[in-house]
Amino acid sequence: MGHPVLRTPAEAVADPTAPEIRGLVRDMIETLADADGAGLAAPQVHVPLRVVMFQVPGHRETGNGEPVPLTVLVNPEIVPLGEDQDEDWEACLSVPGLTGLVPRWTSIRYSGTTPYGERIEQMAEGFHARVVQHECDHLDGILYPARMTDMSMLMFREELRHYVASEDDEEETERESA
Ligand code: NI
Repeated sequence: MGHPVLRTPAEAVADPTAPEIRGLVRDMIETLADADGAGLAAPQVHVPLRVVMFQVPGHRETGNGEPVPLTVLVNPEIVPLGEDQDEDWEACLSVPGLTGLVPRWTSIRYSGTTPYGERIEQMAEGFHARVVQHECDHLDGILYPARMTDMSMLMFREELRHYVASEDDEEETERESA
């Protein structure tokens, strides 16, 4: 948090299928696996390009209950579906040790291009919609604390584990970073 590349809008990618983009994606997959995260955006590895990746494990609420396999999107776009927002806890590899309660659109439609040149268009709800919004915010230089409406709900993950976990199931405090 604070590095200029995390505070600056990223550039659109001219050719999503370029070899440099596949190289970047390989690096990002490694970083995501090392961190055991749910998602990652290129600015988090200090590359100012509009590339994100995310995955949703089977135990997350995605609207249809299906896990989402690792998805890479170049030049992604999001459209909210309706006015509804949900609040839930988020964590970020670029904001280590912290977690916060963040409002997000409940339902979205997103689109983008894969590094193989395929066009993806998808509807998403729940955690799936949340992780896509979190990653795409990175491309606009926005970290999740900037989306929070109640800063008293920005806390150390360790504290949340101790004091809030009892209100929720254990799972809630084990959120993957993104
Ligand atoms: Ni993040």
